[in-house]
Amino acid sequence: MADEEDAPAEVHHYSNLQEVPWDIQNYWAQRYRIFSKYDEGIWLTDDAWFGVTPEPVANTIATQMAESAPAGRSILVDAFAGAGGNSIAFALTGRWKRVYAIEKNPAVLRCAKHNAKIYGVEDKITWFEGDCFDIISNHLKELAPYSVVFASPPWGGQCHSTLRLQHELTVTGPGYRSDKVFNLKTMEPYSLQKLYDEYSVFSKHMVLYIPRTSDLSQLAKFVPNGQHATVMHYCMEGASKALCIFYGDFNVS
Ligand SMILES: C[S@@+](CC[C@H](N)C(=O)[O-])C[C@H]1O[C@@H](n2cnc3c(N)ncnc32)[C@H](O)[C@@H]1O
Repeated sequence: MADEEDAPAEVHHYSNLQEVPWDIQNYWAQRYRIFSKYDEGIWLTDDAWFGVTPEPVANTIATQMAESAPAGRSILVDAFAGAGGNSIAFALTGRWKRVYAIEKNPAVLRCAKHNAKIYGVEDKITWFEGDCFDIISNHLKELAPYSVVFASPPWGGQCHSTLRLQHELTVTGPGYRSDKVFNLKTMEPYSLQKLYDEYSVFSKHMVLYIPRTSDLSQLAKFVPNGQHATVMHYCMEGASKALCIFYGDFNVS
């Protein structure tokens, strides 16, 4: 792998099935749908496989946000950049003067920067290592009037070791995979209330990427009286993978 020597120990580019841990083999089988340029040396940590937004979905979201964001909003803040799936797609649209990408896990952030380089957009993105709530309120404050926020938070269960545990114990307890309706009040580690409260101080124009079974009545509670929000489902092979709620003045069609 290109400059693999520099990569943190938990970062990998798996190039054959034998080296892939069993619980990410299904994801690896879909690697070109996740990153079409996978073979150019895409980096991921084992946990990042579970959270990365597949490229066609990331591109669709990026196009919709680019076309529907209020004029005058030229900065996009990707609060949970992960391995860069969404940040890369946002930068590729060319709509944003700047994409700010925040990720608290240093190894995952290294993956995002490396992957953005493969897609030729690393210079269009300003990277922050740290907690998005802290960085948004303390370091990006002056950008508030020009910004929109995108957030694909962890949902709980999107983790290598958790899935392994679920498999071994045949547990089908609460989680985005098993819940009929996903409770956004108990979403771990950040509830909908926490996300909305933190981001709305910065920008009321925000898009949240959350489980497909999210409780719509909980989402509606954050829509100001007389205003509307749009919910979009993102499907692959006839099944919804996730949804986005667009709060604020997005003109989504
Ligand atoms: C679902 S993943 C994001 C995936 C990303 N959209 C992509 O396509 O690669 C969530 C990410 O948020 C990071 N994270 C969790 N809490 C955070 C926080 N408070 N601030 C910044 N990043 C955080 C996790 O390390 C994880 O990489």
